[in-house]
Amino acid sequence: TTYKLLLLPGDGIGPEVMAEVEKVVGWLKRAGLADFETERDLVGGAAIDVHGKPLADETLARADAADAILLGAVGGPKWNGVAYDIRPEAGLLRLRKDLGLFANLRPAICYPALADASALKRELVEGLDIMIVRELTGGVYFGEPKEITTLEDGSKRAVDTQVYTTAEIERIAHVAFDLARKRSGRVASAEKNNVMKTGVLWKDVVTKVHAEHYAEVELEHVLADNCAMQLVRRPKQFDVLVTDNLFGDVLSDVAAMLTGSLGMLPSASLGATDARGTRKALYEPVHGSAPDIAGKGFANPIAMIGSLAMCLRYSFGLGEAADLVEGAITRALAAGARTRDIVGEGQTPISTAEMGDAILRE
Ligand code: NAI
Ligand code: MG
Repeated sequence: TTYKLLLLPGDGIGPEVMAEVEKVVGWLKRAGLADFETERDLVGGAAIDVHGKPLADETLARADAADAILLGAVGGPKWNGVAYDIRPEAGLLRLRKDLGLFANLRPAICYPALADASALKRELVEGLDIMIVRELTGGVYFGEPKEITTLEDGSKRAVDTQVYTTAEIERIAHVAFDLARKRSGRVASAEKNNVMKTGVLWKDVVTKVHAEHYAEVELEHVLADNCAMQLVRRPKQFDVLVTDNLFGDVLSDVAAMLTGSLGMLPSASLGATDARGTRKALYEPVHGSAPDIAGKGFANPIAMIGSLAMCLRYSFGLGEAADLVEGAITRALAAGARTRDIVGEGQTPISTAEMGDAILRE
């Protein structure tokens, strides 16, 4: 099979960092390491300018037919005035929702060359490589009732509801255990079963999925508040960390601070397996469109190129090509290549394109 990869560069620095990904894809093709086709389309503000909405129906159909999507970033001041439901961000939200992307994977990798930029001491983070698996479509951000009501005395009452079903927990647990099999074979599951019913169910279901299908993987349960503390105290104890939507939002931001710049962090959002046996998948940098630096050649393309590496590994089964790309990033950094966001004292920053070229050379 020839896989199909849809490129959606989007807005701001999105097209700038995507251009570096296209260089890497071109190299992989010439080297005979990338048996996949690429297409390009518009999303976000770029789509609003052409179609009047942030995700055209044809684009959604293309995304649905693709084996994976690589997205740059959406948004920017130019579109701040448009109505809420056709804002650039709505295009991304619709993609996530319509493709049923329920599992958010956020690696926190600390490159040895950047260990001094971490919020923690070098010895705590050097070589750090955690994969946070966050449930993305359930939990307290979506549960009903969700409302603010006015009480008799005129004061107010706000309600958010955390809901999880067995099926929702099972499918995210499978994603985490499958990943652990390809990594160090360890999963930590974070919840608060001591004070939350959803925590009790979460722990039960994860335990059951583990016992029935993944006996060879090591499973540890950890209370989410303790997990936050451990991430800062001794982060290298974790490999795959699976948790719900709310705890995952917070814990992945904590993990991000262990690694340096926003410009370094890739992510994946995975859905259910389709009829062809591939998982719906969207890969994107964690950062946004960075309007403050757009058009200046300052953007760090590593999060975007790292997102391509995740795509090669998880959607296309091209682990070797992914290793090559990730190794090239590590070596380019070790050789001193730095965009402005990660430049250290006495180092000269290079441009987005120069960073792409440095990675290609490696
Ligand atoms: P942002 O992530 O775009 O920028 C935050 C800061 O980090 C800025 O100072 C920026 O210059 C810097 N930065 C981000 N990526 C960088 C890179 N690759 N290299 C070097 N520096 C980098 O977040 P912000 O400013 O809150 O949002 C800007 C726009 O992006 C908004 O319209 C927002 O809605 C949108 N956004 C889109 C996301 C997406 O497409 N997934 C995610 C987050 C924000
Ligand atoms: Mg967040």
